[in-house]
Amino acid sequence: MTAQPLRSRNWFGRDDLDGFVHRSWLKAEGFSEQMFDGRPVIGIGNSWSELTNCNAHLRQLADAVKRGVLSAGGFPLEFPTISLGEVLMKPTTMLFRNLMAMDVEECIRAYPLDAVVLLSGCDKTTPAMLMGAASADVPAIMVTGGPMLRGRWRTEDLGSGTDNWRLWAERRAGRLGDEAWAEAESCMSRSSGHCMVMGTASTMASMAEALGMTLPGNAAIPAPDSRRYALAELAGRRAVEMAKAGSPKPSEILTREAFDNAIRADMAIGGSTNAIIHLVAIAGRAGIRVPLTRFDELSRTTPLLANVRPSGKYLMEDFFYAGGLPAVLKELLPLLHGGAATVNGKTLADNVGGAVCHNEDVIRPLAMPLATEGGTVILTGNLCPGGAVLKQSAASPHLLTHRGRAVVFEDHADIHRRIDDPSVPIDETSVLVLKHVGPRGAPGMPEWGAAPIPARLLKQGVKDMVRISDARMSGTSYGTVVLHVAPESAVGGPLALVKDGDEIELDVPKRTLTLRMSDEELARRRAAWTPRPPHYERGYGRLFLDHVLQANEGCDFDFLRGKTPVRAEDTAGPSHS
Ligand code: FES
Repeated sequence: MTAQPLRSRNWFGRDDLDGFVHRSWLKAEGFSEQMFDGRPVIGIGNSWSELTNCNAHLRQLADAVKRGVLSAGGFPLEFPTISLGEVLMKPTTMLFRNLMAMDVEECIRAYPLDAVVLLSGCDKTTPAMLMGAASADVPAIMVTGGPMLRGRWRTEDLGSGTDNWRLWAERRAGRLGDEAWAEAESCMSRSSGHCMVMGTASTMASMAEALGMTLPGNAAIPAPDSRRYALAELAGRRAVEMAKAGSPKPSEILTREAFDNAIRADMAIGGSTNAIIHLVAIAGRAGIRVPLTRFDELSRTTPLLANVRPSGKYLMEDFFYAGGLPAVLKELLPLLHGGAATVNGKTLADNVGGAVCHNEDVIRPLAMPLATEGGTVILTGNLCPGGAVLKQSAASPHLLTHRGRAVVFEDHADIHRRIDDPSVPIDETSVLVLKHVGPRGAPGMPEWGAAPIPARLLKQGVKDMVRISDARMSGTSYGTVVLHVAPESAVGGPLALVKDGDEIELDVPKRTLTLRMSDEELARRRAAWTPRPPHYERGYGRLFLDHVLQANEGCDFDFLRGKTPVRAEDTAGPSHS
């Protein structure tokens, strides 16, 4: 390992007034002179918050990281970032992912940090931290909070999200009483950690690991398991080595090959559709353009191996016991770039070469996959010129080729007002079209894509219908749901022009989504279309509306793509009062 000049010495190693001030003020926290002896300073970026239940244990995890940093001779300094709690934050955490990424990037740049350990958990906190770290490009290692223990109600395992949609549908159909409904509520989330299906949090933790930004095995260790704390300690130790070497930086890890590996892993685990948006955004920070077509190319040649809800049967705890992501990556190795670098200094192939699968029903071998293709497909056609996304592993096989008449809802409020109105002509062949739920339209592209099925159809036993929108869908949801339609309706994409009764054809094998209408009629409707007034005139919401990119470009802000690595001169100048 080659010793690199430490960035933090520009603050603490100076024999001048600034050095005096930097050291003196920090000594207010009770640090001894020894901590300023030239040891690397390791920032621990913590998205802990009691408003983000998934991240509420991250202070304990930070203690384990500190233990590792101190034992390796580093100086740990924990700092808070904003936190994005998927369940409580309104209108949607996606509105604030880029704000958190800016927070993380600027904290890394502004403070005397030689390396950072990033603690994330809930859905958006992982991509936001990776985006910020990629743009700052200081050595960084991620530790995610881990999934909750499996939910357990009476004799049933309950998966976060996935099973509450199912129970809600049962309740709306009149098959689940008050007492059972109330009891199930207390049985689903029974430990620290994030949602324990292969929802967005588990998927993004897996993406961080497949990209090489975590220690091997990080993604699936349950949050309360002692082994997560041991891994956090090791991450702290490793961060000290990275700080001393000045390497690897995110730019050395987040390569085109690493994104291919992550996309393959996403397909093999039946990952959340949200991963597509986040991976495109993270890649954009690393200066890599990942077109949606790349997801489809790799999806077609990557088998689905993880039998985890919502695409499969098991929960993340089972996935961990079966071998976790290393066992999946080992199976996939023939399809991966095994030489990709990772934060522990070894290649991906080195890290997973010794992985063992302990349960082939949970993690299938390559020769016996759950499906021969990946979980997510990319659609194109005149209804989505910029592309759209469908999770085929969570869709109904009989609807994967379907032609039906559109029933159009102008926005989220409209569908909730009218979906159970018996005068709206809906049957099981209808195609539900939901507008104004995209990045600018909603705004923030909430997870409203899995639109409700009318209660009267649920009672008749209809469990799924084709639904199309410019929204996202929770990674815990399922159904034949076309998402991320780009360009979105709020900016005049073709989705804005659909009317009740129009014929729409979905053909997943051919990867097409078609509004069966002449170009002339579409042009006539486009000429008559007018946008809605903006949701925000000021503040962060205004910044979001002015700069957010469409779903196929990752919904980052146009001015945030790329990186501005830290420079020596960033630390110059007096900062004391
Ligand atoms: Fe945080 Fe599901 S609510 S991961």
